[in-house]
Amino acid sequence: MALNRAMIFLGPPGAGKGTQANRAAKRYGVPHLSTGDMLREAVAQGTELGRSAKPLMERGELVPDNIVMGMVEERLARPDSAQGFIFDGFPRTVPQAEQLDKILARRGFGKPLVVEFHVSPETLLHRVSGRWTCSVGGETYNIYERPPKVPGICDVDGGKLIQRSDDSPDIVRERLAAYDRKTKPLADYYRQHGVLETVDGSKGVEEVSRELNEIFARAAGRDGHL
Ligand code: AP5
Repeated sequence: MALNRAMIFLGPPGAGKGTQANRAAKRYGVPHLSTGDMLREAVAQGTELGRSAKPLMERGELVPDNIVMGMVEERLARPDSAQGFIFDGFPRTVPQAEQLDKILARRGFGKPLVVEFHVSPETLLHRVSGRWTCSVGGETYNIYERPPKVPGICDVDGGKLIQRSDDSPDIVRERLAAYDRKTKPLADYYRQHGVLETVDGSKGVEEVSRELNEIFARAAGRDGHL
């Protein structure tokens, strides 16, 4: 069952974009494209891109648009993106969204379907403070809501669970401020383009997944793409 569209999950740090993008990507057999994961990989590999991004990410600031756009264009050129994809954490500024529109048009995709996750700041801080991520496969856990069966070990592949260096409370506050300043205006941008949907991201993981599946189904009913 191919998605045949670009999906964008928009929301602040800890809103559950990655958790839901991972599930939806598996369900629809398309890649989950997280610019945060791509940047963390570049940092871990010590590439030139990673070296420029690292200090900004450590401060909770956004990486410049030109760096992110180059990375995304390169990723979309891979054959696995031909049937659609789910972006998590991208675009994050209006210029990124404008450039993405041009890339999608060039690649023969229609308008993206954008879902904005609404979650209160208190819940975001609580969630991010409890997040542990598998260092091998990237599966995400939460010590309060969704702990692994064995502490510190991934249920799926046995990988070691680690905490992100930008998840400390001070840096999360900076990331939330960057979201309010630069990313929130994207909701208006996509609303004006008639492609914005919203979910209540404070509900449980299963319930949010169900709401997203309903959104996918409604969109498919409108334009024939899943
Ligand atoms: P990025 O990696 O994109 O981080 P983010 O957007 O801040 O989002 P998070 O990954 O923190 O949260 P999430 O919404 O995915 O939540 P998750 O599902 O993990 O960006 C990191 C940095 O990279 C940025 O600060 C910036 O510097 C740079 N960057 C990245 N993209 C960029 C771009 N396009 N332009 C410029 N710079 C860029 O869930 C969080 C926790 O909650 C987990 O523990 C999870 O298990 C739990 N949880 C999830 N859903 C639920 C639920 N429904 N109920 C209870 N718990 C839940």
